Amino acid sequence: MANQNNNTNYKNLVGPIAIDGPVASGKSTVGKIIAERLEWPFADTGLMYRAIGYIMEKESISINNNVKLYDHSLNAKITINDDLVTLNGEDITDVITSPTISKNASLVAESSQIRQLLTNQQRNMVTQARGKIVMVGRDITTVIVPDTLHKFYLDAPSEIRSLRRLSQQNRAPSAKDIKNMQSQIDERDARDLSRAASPLRISKDTQVIETAHLTLAQVVEEIMVKLIQRK
Ligand code: C5P
Repeated sequence: MANQNNNTNYKNLVGPIAIDGPVASGKSTVGKIIAERLEWPFADTGLMYRAIGYIMEKESISINNNVKLYDHSLNAKITINDDLVTLNGEDITDVITSPTISKNASLVAESSQIRQLLTNQQRNMVTQARGKIVMVGRDITTVIVPDTLHKFYLDAPSEIRSLRRLSQQNRAPSAKDIKNMQSQIDERDARDLSRAASPLRISKDTQVIETAHLTLAQVVEEIMVKLIQRK
């Protein structure tokens, strides 16, 4: 099974592959591995919302100043190339992972105008890749490419997602770290689920994968198998 993608089964696979899920559900890690296996490009759309969240911070724009934020966003050139993110040529890869930018991104994501802007850019990315792209986010299965055959939703309880996110640090997390992380995650999830514009939803033909008791490799294999079944 491990090298199943080496056989001809995947040669004629028609994309795109869309993966949604709540904060820290493993979408990016899993999506990136699948993209590497298929030799397709990978796009983490959360990074684009984070780039706009960074504009808010850099230009000191309030989330209530929709007009100014939209104006800046309209003129922003955001590029995502695997892990490298640039905004108007500036490498912002590391700065956009901070808790402040995470929260800004989540606030920005409530704006229907900003969403429309990014939706257009993301659909262009799909077109440019001729559909052969793995894209992850919150509205890929419901808004960006709802008609694709390959739609997945990764899920796990927020306690588990918090621990996974903290395990990426170099030190053992304290009980306070865990509590803080879980409350940040719960707050962002609640905003994604309750907003009016493209809320996080599981559409009826999306395949849900509960990852709580699965390893990363098992999640990847499950998706690889399902891709063939739906070809
Ligand atoms: O995936 P990540 O946590 O980096 O995304 C940052 C924020 O961007 C999320 O909290 C979510 O509110 C928003 N987002 C979105 N739609 C997407 C991708 C991300 O609303 N397709």
